[in-house]
Amino acid sequence: MGRFGFFVTIEGIEGSGKSTLLYGLKEYVESLGLEVVITREPGGTTFAESVRQLILHKDDDIDPWTEVFLLLAARRENVTKVILPALRDGKVVISDRYTDSTLAYQGYGRGLPLKKLSLLNKMATSKVFPRLTFIIDLPVERGFGRKKGDLDRIEREELEFHERVRNGYLLLARKAKKRIKVLDGTKSPEELLDEAKRILKKALIEKGKIREKQYEG
Ligand SMILES: Nc1ncnc2c1ncn2[C@@H]1O[C@H](COP(=O)(O)OP(=O)(O)OP(=O)(O)O)[C@@H](O)[C@H]1O
Ligand SMILES: [Mg+2]
Repeated sequence: MGRFGFFVTIEGIEGSGKSTLLYGLKEYVESLGLEVVITREPGGTTFAESVRQLILHKDDDIDPWTEVFLLLAARRENVTKVILPALRDGKVVISDRYTDSTLAYQGYGRGLPLKKLSLLNKMATSKVFPRLTFIIDLPVERGFGRKKGDLDRIEREELEFHERVRNGYLLLARKAKKRIKVLDGTKSPEELLDEAKRILKKALIEKGKIREKQYEG
């Protein structure tokens, strides 16, 4: 039984069902008798939540790199204060968005160079990367069809931006088949959760976090 925890991230376009899956998986991991810490990006700490407000709820134009540096500053806080300490305690950490969001939104979406963004992701996280990532794939219109209330600054971007983000996610998944699992977001929340549970359980067994016989469910 390895003592370092297990890091899972959930990614996908707006309204794809990330938060819904997050809470379902949290309950599942707890039912396995493991401790779970959940977090979200941008966010996770008081400071990082303030950065979230700056990034998502200001109307002013923000230079694309300014947006990157703000997101990375928030991520750094989340990693050093929340994610890494929990992993060191052997916990399962599940984050609603993480490094792949930067590549999908600022890279594929805004057109900033992926190589530079990857390097910055490494610097910001000290290479604390997820072992497993779920990308919930869904047509952009369907995701927005599920949204209620006002849209934030990034959600208000044009449709083509969100199409680039969606396709970017799929390209990222193709480049990291072992880590990234693409889920069909048109399925029901129950079906999505079942599939994610199956994949996560297999990964937890492989990493020696749980034993195969113990949990048949
Ligand atoms: N698989 C699903 N099928 C249909 N509706 C869903 C599904 N999953 C979630 N929903 C509903 O769609 C809405 C958005 O879901 P959720 O908040 O989980 O998505 P999200 O990806 O976290 O969105 P956001 O980008 O706003 O954070 C919610 O009303 C939720 O109940
Ligand atoms: Mg959400």
